[in-house]
Amino acid sequence: MATSQEQLKQQAAQAAFDYVKEHFKPGSVIGVGTGSTVNFFIDLLAEMKHDIEAAVSSSEASTERLKAHGIRVVDLNSVSELPLYIDGADEIDSHLRMVKGGGAALTREKIIAAAAQTFVCIVDKSKQVGRLGNFPVPVEVIPMARSYVGRQIVRLGGDPVWREGVVTDNGNWILDVHNFDILDPIHLEQQLNNIVGVVTNGLFAQRGADLALVASADGIQTVK
Ligand code: 5RP
Repeated sequence: MATSQEQLKQQAAQAAFDYVKEHFKPGSVIGVGTGSTVNFFIDLLAEMKHDIEAAVSSSEASTERLKAHGIRVVDLNSVSELPLYIDGADEIDSHLRMVKGGGAALTREKIIAAAAQTFVCIVDKSKQVGRLGNFPVPVEVIPMARSYVGRQIVRLGGDPVWREGVVTDNGNWILDVHNFDILDPIHLEQQLNNIVGVVTNGLFAQRGADLALVASADGIQTVK
């Protein structure tokens, strides 16, 4: 029987949990991302809650799930060192650059990724791409800047679509940008960052992942 995407997400989460068991220094803080793959990981992490000092979380949803398992969640401001961050992605290329933010948590995810020493990305095989951009690039905007930012994005060659009804954990809105021809993800990430009113964009190219654990029907592939 074919392995479903949900099963692959679960296997990627299990691989991350095995990685954590091997590499995590008891008593330190762990960074935890957002999404359905990470949810499987959080459920596994509960087994290790006595070894974990606390978690830093990239969304209210993950915070709630961590706390429900009895894992303490602390503010990133109270943490001087973050050895490890586990998170999913919507797309990942062979250089471990990603598109993230399908779950609208991109800003906190990017902050935690920046602060972490090692970013381990967990995905199922369907997220691996030759070139980023088939998945629309999420851009978090200050609400009053939505139309202005949208016009600037059109000038960069993208087609922004407002994710209506979605308000991020930071009180902002999301534009999903379709049809970007992403030849140079770092450059585009910088160009998007330079638009006034943009809080964060979902291209994680300047700071990509350090390691990807990719689940497929053949098992787990580790990409460095
Ligand atoms: C949330 C994200 C997630 O990592 C991304 O959307 C992948 O989610 P899932 O594991 O549910 O496929 O960036 O903002």
